[in-house]
Amino acid sequence: MSAFTYKNNQLHCEGVALSEMAQEFGTPLYVYSAAAILESFQRYQRALKERSHLICYAVKANSNLAVLNLLAKQGAGFDIVSEGELRRVLKAGGDPSKVIFSGVGKTTREIRFALEKNIRCFNVESKMELERLNNIAASMNTVAPVSIRVNPDVDAKTHPYISTGLKENKFGIDIKEAPEVYTLAHQLSHIKVHGIDCHIGSQLIDTQPFIDALDRIIALQETLSQVGIEIKSLDLGGGVGVVYDDEDEPDLEGYIDQVKAKVGENIELMFEPGRFISANAGVMLTEVQYTKQSGDKHFAIVDAAMNDNLRPSLYSAYQQVKPLKQPAANSDDNYQWDIVGPVCESGDFLAKDRRLSIQPGDRLALMSSGAYGFVMSSNYNTRGRAAEVLVSGEEYQVVREREELDSLFEGESIWQHAHPSLAD
Ligand code: LLP
Repeated sequence: MSAFTYKNNQLHCEGVALSEMAQEFGTPLYVYSAAAILESFQRYQRALKERSHLICYAVKANSNLAVLNLLAKQGAGFDIVSEGELRRVLKAGGDPSKVIFSGVGKTTREIRFALEKNIRCFNVESKMELERLNNIAASMNTVAPVSIRVNPDVDAKTHPYISTGLKENKFGIDIKEAPEVYTLAHQLSHIKVHGIDCHIGSQLIDTQPFIDALDRIIALQETLSQVGIEIKSLDLGGGVGVVYDDEDEPDLEGYIDQVKAKVGENIELMFEPGRFISANAGVMLTEVQYTKQSGDKHFAIVDAAMNDNLRPSLYSAYQQVKPLKQPAANSDDNYQWDIVGPVCESGDFLAKDRRLSIQPGDRLALMSSGAYGFVMSSNYNTRGRAAEVLVSGEEYQVVREREELDSLFEGESIWQHAHPSLAD
């Protein structure tokens, strides 16, 4: 099911024409479908329903409060990587006892805050972190529940920047060293071993690497059991890919069936999906400002840029571009277009070599922008970040206002003292 379909030649999100929202709120604009977010979350829920499980949405993918609240109401847990994300989850009504804390660099302050809020589990990524966690928990007179994030040395066969399960990546603890770290965790007075965690990468189309990782984790679980360390949960991370272009659709249900067949029923199954939940539930709208030709190249210069959506620039990511209004079938201005932004860098593009019919003033949708879109936006070139809108059926609401330009330098100040190097 796609939440984005043409009706009367107009691209809609659920029951609302995108051009109507672009007109009302301006562009660039992020638009999300509540139904699409819920449907992908429920696919996980349905696949796991007869098993003890917790689906912890990876907040980093799209952390808008409205999105988090929607998922919290469905019983979702949350995978966070910072105090900021935990604060968002709490603000959105998320249950801290369903929050797990991932990431290689948790600071003392972040650990303290998460312990105060009684989160479910820390996914610990190094021995040093384990020791720090133990010390902080001791100073707070509490016990920290942990899973050790292991690095199973499995090739996720995805973009190198989002592949995390190989020995050379900075994430997790080498699975060969894991028994020693678990033994330490078991001995530490203020640590309680909860489970085993891994996350091997993002945007996996082939789910076999997840199963290869799982086999290694199950072997580890058995080794630990022999030395009296009982594991209560296995967390297989996120990473299930989505269709951006013409990829095969990953078989989520087939993957989960394999997991269920391999893991004993007494073990809680945990997942940390981000992209799968929100990527295809969102689009970014932009308006063509100018068109120009340089040799054979046709450029459409739009009002969104790499600061609004970094994925094409950073990973050469492909995302489809669709016109909000379908052009007449016989339009004769069908060129290959590069869709570029106003930022002063050649890397500032949203799409390259797309056969489209484009006129100045047209509005376009950059599809599959619901994950790692707005959250990776910045103020580069002192550009305010876009507004975000959530749609449900025929209704819609701005869930984040467009950033006011004056607010971009609110915390800055001009030097108040004399400059010794500047003569009066
Ligand atoms: N768990 C951990 C520990 C992670 O590091 C990530 C993503 C996830 C879960 C969620 O993975 P997902 O289900 O979304 O694949 N900015 C990149 C993606 C970076 C992913 C980072 N970690 C992109 O735009 O493609």
